[in-house]
Amino acid sequence: MTKVVLAYSGGLDTSVSIVWLREKYDAEVYTVTLDVGQDGDFETIGERAEKLGAVEHFFIDAKEEFVKDYVFPSIKANGLYGGKYPLSSALSRPLIARKLVEVADKVGADAVAHGCTGRGNDQVRIEVTVKALNPELKVLAPVREWGLDRESELEYARKHGIPFTREKLYSVDQNLWGRSIECGPLENPDMEPPEGVFKWTVSPEKAPDKPEYVTIGFEDGVPVSLDGERMDGVTLIKTLNMIAGRNGVGRIDHIEDRVVGIKTREVYECPAALCILEAHKDLEKLVLTPRQLRFKETVDREWGVLVYSGLWCEPLKEDLETFIENTQRFVKGWVRLKLYKGSMLVVSRMSEYSLYSKEMATYSVEGKFDQSAAPGFIEIWGLPSRLAWRVCKRTGR
Ligand code: ARG
Repeated sequence: MTKVVLAYSGGLDTSVSIVWLREKYDAEVYTVTLDVGQDGDFETIGERAEKLGAVEHFFIDAKEEFVKDYVFPSIKANGLYGGKYPLSSALSRPLIARKLVEVADKVGADAVAHGCTGRGNDQVRIEVTVKALNPELKVLAPVREWGLDRESELEYARKHGIPFTREKLYSVDQNLWGRSIECGPLENPDMEPPEGVFKWTVSPEKAPDKPEYVTIGFEDGVPVSLDGERMDGVTLIKTLNMIAGRNGVGRIDHIEDRVVGIKTREVYECPAALCILEAHKDLEKLVLTPRQLRFKETVDREWGVLVYSGLWCEPLKEDLETFIENTQRFVKGWVRLKLYKGSMLVVSRMSEYSLYSKEMATYSVEGKFDQSAAPGFIEIWGLPSRLAWRVCKRTGR
């Protein structure tokens, strides 16, 4: 008999998976639900798992670990895939994989299972990480294997007494770092998302008529306070999701290149993530040199692509993190944001490591910048380009 540890969200797909694994593989099914800040009714989810025949259900509050070990590194790396997506779902998958492996170890399972389809990134993220952590484990993907369409799945659920609500237009994935919404009407990228898909943000039109300011304090590249009040990462992100969300800040709608080659239209709500990333980037601009910043952009982009593509355990990611980490010791200070009807602007910032010098930057006569050095600098700075330009002109190449 196979012992399987299933990542269980409590939704229809993974509920059907419990029964399907028992029927098809004669499996003894253990279920695991992680709390990564998705606000679910975890007691009901556990009861449902056991009612559907799970031998044992494991509930793991992973919020703190998620923030510390997954979200914080992403903030330091300015993690935004395609320049837009804060990687919210992508960051949770390697953590889910890790927990599946841990529970499998605890109960002596020979396989783990997840409810991802064969079209997405999540299957890649979970499976690559599981296999890296424990190559002995088999991975089962019921939803990918069973080839059921929605109607047949509902029929199967009805037959096996699996509870479901009929009207589920969208596929939603949530955690502290964001909410992703897919399917249904959103599959038409030429149509604006219906207002009903949004839960964490009011529409900018309905946001308050007065701007709201929020100041984010950073230490070692991660947020540690809001408006001067120190708080742990989980509380800070939750609070900021609320503040930004009520001002209509946090909506994302873009075209995304999945790792399996498909282009999709993705809609997200990531109020806290967008604010923190914007503030973090601004603070970096204050404290890092232009050369550090330019190189870091390349490193950050590469880091984001690795994480998006499911390669959390790729050694290159750790190499990049060593560089990133070294830069973050200067990322200390605060950034003030102005939130107003869907817009978010950095309006001021401060750091004890600031490289900004008013004496140098000022246009006034007291300035310390020696303008008489400029002509010589320009002469030498442009020399290689000027010479090359003339060769092009002369040769017509
Ligand atoms: N496109 C996003 C990503 O690849 C969102 C995935 C959401 N997952 C889900 N099961 N609905 O990270």
